Amino acid sequence: MALIHFEVRGLRNLTTASFSPSPSITLLFGPNGSGKTTVLEGVYLLGMARSFRTQQTRKLIQYGMTVATVFGRVDTGHAQYGLGVQKQNGDVTLIRVNGERQETASVLAGLLPLQLITPESHTLLKGEPRERRSYMDWGLFHVEHEFLDLWKRYRRYLEQRNAALRGRVHAGEMSHWEQGLADCGEALAAMRERYIQEISPLFAKIFTVLLEEEAPRLIYRRGWPKDHALIEVLERNRASERVSGYTMAGPHRADLRLVTAEGLDAADSFSRGQQKLAVCALRLAQMQYLQNVAGRRCTLLLDDLPAELDQRRRHLLMQSVASSGAQCLVTATDRNLLDLSPWNEAAVFHVEHGVVTEVV
Ligand SMILES: Nc1ncnc2c1ncn2[C@@H]1O[C@H](COP(=O)(O)OP(=O)(O)OP(=O)(O)O)[C@@H](O)[C@H]1O
Ligand SMILES: [Mg+2]
Repeated sequence: MALIHFEVRGLRNLTTASFSPSPSITLLFGPNGSGKTTVLEGVYLLGMARSFRTQQTRKLIQYGMTVATVFGRVDTGHAQYGLGVQKQNGDVTLIRVNGERQETASVLAGLLPLQLITPESHTLLKGEPRERRSYMDWGLFHVEHEFLDLWKRYRRYLEQRNAALRGRVHAGEMSHWEQGLADCGEALAAMRERYIQEISPLFAKIFTVLLEEEAPRLIYRRGWPKDHALIEVLERNRASERVSGYTMAGPHRADLRLVTAEGLDAADSFSRGQQKLAVCALRLAQMQYLQNVAGRRCTLLLDDLPAELDQRRRHLLMQSVASSGAQCLVTATDRNLLDLSPWNEAAVFHVEHGVVTEVV
């Protein structure tokens, strides 16, 4: 899969811009404030129907305009699809595939699997467990057909049990919600555990190439104590959770930790640059895995790659990206900061004052 054409209107400082990315690597370079991150934000909007910088639509829409629109053409290797996403102040997000209105963004994600690495990406290690759960779930969404349905059912049971804990649902129904929650929860946890086991060797290999040191282990925590069935824990916690009104055990509390050979958590012991590279290794491992098991290529958005990486790490990272086989869109303030030699079909664009121009 590859994004072969992209157009944007009314997104931040991009009044109108269109360009055709390379199926391999596309470099967007230009001065600060020129619109490079906005281009990546636009591509992200096309695959996810939301921004990675804000949840507020009005911040995305160009000052003085009422809508922001992105279009793209994706080549899956078997067929081409036209994708479109429109954001309008105070209104629903319009999603179209081949001109047909879509109700959910998951169809976009299926056609344009995206990975994003920004200067803030180290927060995957340091930030809330929610970020690491969505990391795991991105992988499962793309490789396990039942995942999305299972996850939705789990959320419904969780809401019902929480409502029952707060006395809003007849207490006699509690065991029904608990059983459903436990069944879906066990299945989800098993899927995540298997996924982490599968990507661990890929992660270790990429990490060792990038950092030239031993990789930390990926430790998956499923969200309730070992050696206990989820149903047992739910029943045991019922009385105390009536006070909090919230279910404290289950996959919605899962986490993923990176632990070094010395037993230290990478989030506390790694430098910022190391954390960033560890996150790159995590994301590249997912992309590699998706390619291995489903033969699907991802599009990797790499914003401001050089920030905080020394020249050698930049070189090693670019090599790893090239060998991952992903389509890559990368931004930098200076064209010469990145070595594009590992790729044969590089495309280069200059971005200035919201105008994207191909450089030959
Ligand atoms: N809603 C908006 N309407 C118009 N312009 C906006 C809007 N929001 C932000 N901008 C402007 O868009 C410009 C592009 O920002 P962007 O973050 O894409 O720049 P960049 O090229 O990534 O810069 P840097 O190298 O500093 O990361 C900025 O100058 C910003 O002030
Ligand atoms: Mg930027």
